[in-house]
This record gives sequence, structure tokens and C-alpha cells, in this order.
Amino acid sequence: VVEAVMEPRPPVVTVMGHVDHGKTSLLDYIRASRVASGEAGGITQHIGAYHVETPRGMVTFLDTPGHEAFTAMRARGAKATDIVILVVSADDGVMPQTIEAIHHAKAGNVPIVVAINKIDKPEAQPERVKNELISHEVVPEEYGGDTMFREVSAKTGKGIDELLEAVLLQAEVLELQAPQNTPAKGLVIEGRLDKGRGPVSTVLVQSGILRRGDMLLAGTAFGRVRAMLDENGQDIKEAGPSIPVEVLGLSDVPSAGEETIVLNDERKAREIALFRQGKFRDVKLAKQQA
Ligand code: GTP
Ligand code: NA
Ligand code: MG
Repeated sequence: VVEAVMEPRPPVVTVMGHVDHGKTSLLDYIRASRVASGEAGGITQHIGAYHVETPRGMVTFLDTPGHEAFTAMRARGAKATDIVILVVSADDGVMPQTIEAIHHAKAGNVPIVVAINKIDKPEAQPERVKNELISHEVVPEEYGGDTMFREVSAKTGKGIDELLEAVLLQAEVLELQAPQNTPAKGLVIEGRLDKGRGPVSTVLVQSGILRRGDMLLAGTAFGRVRAMLDENGQDIKEAGPSIPVEVLGLSDVPSAGEETIVLNDERKAREIALFRQGKFRDVKLAKQQA
């Protein structure tokens, strides 16, 4: 058994908020990409995972959908995260999924940084948004609270440096650490079946280093990691704590939110997966099958 040696790790930041308040646009600006404009109908349907190099270090961002139907996905996003950026449109104000996001963050004890977005709009009313959030117990520092608020525009880029600074400041306070010398563990962000490549899962590594060739157990799925890709589709050989990766080679599509661990004993991984699939009444039979 190796003794875990704790090392600093990048923050995992989930962007949450009501539908169309500009979560994906904000991340697009930060990443200098154009995901939002490529989405069908401008609707985010899954959790996007990106890691971004900022002048003050790496940050992993999870983008969540604001649509009502995606509550479970937002809950999973909140669970995987160190910090929530709560995006609130300055013209729309606090809406149902804003409140829901506040509840997810508070339930998970995750600090919130507020981004009041769309301040470029003539009808923007950032002060009104602040008051609405105060009534939901999200109180800005300037009013004696402990939440950093930043006014931004994902359209013009105004205030985004300041927002990133606030996020990194919040991350510093958390002193985030994870070991790298222990078997890799992580969380399934999403799983899907790709026509050509078979089961593909986005895994957020939380500790250890996940490597190509590792035997991975992910809920009811298992298999040797055949390939790992970053969010740009680039082949990578390993991924450490806080890094999201696409993993190919699993037997099945794991469900989002399931834990993943590297088990170098292939028989064991298979046995546990089979048992979890409920194909066997007891561990003994699963063992025989494995
Ligand atoms: P869902 O993922 O569907 O919940 O939406 P979202 O929160 O990711 O919002 P999205 O980035 O798709 O933006 C919604 C709309 O608002 C798009 O038309 C954007 O161009 C627009 N928008 C986003 N940010 C800004 C901003 O700062 N200013 C202005 N004027 N428009 C913005
Ligand atoms: Na949208
Ligand atoms: Mg979106």
C-alpha cells in the first residue's frame, strides 16, 4: 500500500445558472472558442468539461445546461466541483434555475462566485440582481457577505479577467490538494455510445494519475483504457487530478455521477462490474463468471 502524498491540484469550477443567461458564452470567451454558436438551438444538452491555462494556473470548467429538464445533471456538476460560478443575466435577474443552482451549491457546501452577465445590454440592472440574490442569502462582500460578485459581459469580454481572478482567489483559500502517487480515482461526468468508437466516457480524474492501459472500473462498466483524449480530441497518455478526459475502451456506457477507480487486477474489476450489473445473486457467482 502506497502512502498518499498530497500535492496541489487545479480547481474544478462548475458554471451554473438559468437557461440562456450566458454560461456557455462565458466559457467560450474564456477559452476563445465558439461552442455556444455550434449548439443546436443554442441549448446545452450535456456537461462540457474543459481545462484552461490561465496566467495564474490551470482551471477545469464544467459547463451545465440551464434548462429545467437537467436538474440531475446540475446536481452531478455541483458534486464534482470545488467552486460554482453562478451566472445571472443582468436583464433577466434571478430565475428558477438560478435558485436551484444556489440550492445545489449550498447543499454541497461549495462556494459561489457570482457573475452578473450581459452588462453590455442597455436594460442591464446589476443592482437589482444583487438585491434579488441577497434575498436568497447570497450576499456580496460589499454588503458584509462572503460572496464575490463580478459584473461581466460574455459578449465584449468586460470584467472576465476580474471574474477569473475572483475564482482563483477563492481557489487559493480552499488549498486544493490530491495525491498523484495512488491508483487513479475519478467521477464519470457523462457516458455515451459512439457509433464508431463504442462506449465513450468523460471522466474527471480526482486523484492519482490515469494512464492509457489502466484497468478501469466505472460503476457497472469496466475495461482497459484503450485511448484517452482531451476536450480537443487530442490523444493523451495520462491525466492527473482535476483533469477531464474522454476514455475509450470500457465494456459499457457508465452513468454520469458514477465513481471510477483503477484496479490493476482485471479479474477483480470484471467481477465487481458483473456483480453491480445485477446479473448474479451473489458475489461468488460473479466471481466464477469472471
Ligand atoms: P443554456 O446552456 O441553454 O442554459 O444557455 P447558456 O446559459 O449557456 O447561454 P448561452 O451562452 O447559450 O447564451 C444565450 C444567449 O445569450 C446567446 O444568444 C448569447 O449570444 C447571448 N449572450 C450571452 N452572453 C451575453 C452577453 O454578455 N451579452 C449579450 N448581449 N448577450 C449575451
Ligand atoms: Na443557451
Ligand atoms: Mg449553455
